[in-house]
Amino acid sequence: MHELERNIDHVLLSEEQIQKRVRELAEQISKDYADKQLLLVGILKGSMPFMADLMRYLTINAKIDFMSVSSYGNGTVSSGQVRIILDLNKPIENYDLLIVEDILDSGATLAYIREWLSIRKPRSFKIATLLDKPERRKADIAADYSGFEIPDGFVVGYGLDYAEDYRNLPYIGILKREVYE
Ligand code: IMP
Ligand code: MG
Repeated sequence: MHELERNIDHVLLSEEQIQKRVRELAEQISKDYADKQLLLVGILKGSMPFMADLMRYLTINAKIDFMSVSSYGNGTVSSGQVRIILDLNKPIENYDLLIVEDILDSGATLAYIREWLSIRKPRSFKIATLLDKPERRKADIAADYSGFEIPDGFVVGYGLDYAEDYRNLPYIGILKREVYE
């Protein structure tokens, strides 16, 4: 076992499962946005692997951009407060925005981003999330494209971190409880 995997309790979603599902999402998005001006907006840093794979499976033109927000501290529960660290710096009126996010948890982050961007009147606004934890939802927000619904529990890998670690795992795993308790 690699050093990186020592604190992983078990694999929740394998590399193969993730790639298969991301490809399916990309096929659907390619159909839905065939006659649109797609702008993928990745939310850094967690969406990075998902964004990179999703965009390469698309069969239509897509522009990409990034935002960075912070809501989590180094723990496993959201602080509920969202701050914009990096904003889009070009007008978005002529684009159909698809926000690309790693996980939809309480929904606070995406609800804030939706408010923040709606003022700039994009042509349309939709959300693609790799993971969705519906049990934990507090904000009134839902994903338009969702890779996997997962039960409550802290996951890492494929972009998702615990205290900035584990993002570079190619699969999604459940972190051992003793790591964060
Ligand atoms: P929300 O604002 O509560 O929906 O939280 C969204 C953000 O919380 C995500 O972009 C992740 O950065 C982080 N997050 C939520 N659940 C997890 C998890 O299980 N593992 C790692 N990060 C998580
Ligand atoms: Mg995060």
